[in-house]
Amino acid sequence: MQVIIVENKKQVAEKAFEIIKDTIQSKANPVLGLATGSTPIELYQRMIQANEAKEVSFKDVSSYNLDEYVGLNKDHPQSYAYFMRENLFNHIDINQENTHLPQGDVADLQAECDRYDSLVKSMPADIQVLGIGSNGHIAFNEPGSSFESTTHIIKLTKQTREDNARFFDKAEDVPTHAITMGIATILVAKKIILMATSTSKADAIQQMIEGNVDTDCPATVLQNHPDVIVIVDKEAASKLG
Ligand code: PGA
Repeated sequence: MQVIIVENKKQVAEKAFEIIKDTIQSKANPVLGLATGSTPIELYQRMIQANEAKEVSFKDVSSYNLDEYVGLNKDHPQSYAYFMRENLFNHIDINQENTHLPQGDVADLQAECDRYDSLVKSMPADIQVLGIGSNGHIAFNEPGSSFESTTHIIKLTKQTREDNARFFDKAEDVPTHAITMGIATILVAKKIILMATSTSKADAIQQMIEGNVDTDCPATVLQNHPDVIVIVDKEAASKLG
């Protein structure tokens, strides 16, 4: 694991952007694994800015996302599909047909998990962007999730629902379940960039980097991946020894 500590959120986004840009410019058909949440928003703004400035093109890029809420269709304002269009896809030259998210509003959720898992494994990401939950989750793989897990339905923990309630009108509107790439699915990526900012992530970052590899903190599994870059601000790094 390579750990890069920078001053602030803006620099976290800049570092991540530089790595993504290098990859996009060195591959004919780059594949990006993308994430939602507050952490990647500045990175996406930087990608939009660079695209507008013709510094980088996403024309030949394909992408897939980590997860989606169960029960929300892709036009629901809190769905991750909507988030990705609003925060990135509508503002860059990517072909939206090449952007993939799991569908959370289908009748047969197991079939959707299987479809999505096969899709991801058929096009391993050149770079997977990850955030981390304050409880150490990656995507929606909550503590206790098996490291062998493939794309599956998960019941969200109370803490994750509380963390995400800020995006919804009422706490009880937060969906109870999500469809998420499993840990084994995430690890097929060739390179992983995990970004974290603020003191609320300091415990999870400390555990991920210095703790034992254990399902109690799902992010510790990244210690087993050959190419992980952790980019954190000083606050998120504040508990590192
Ligand atoms: P956040 O979420 O970027 O909104 O903090 C990260 C996560 O839960 O993985």
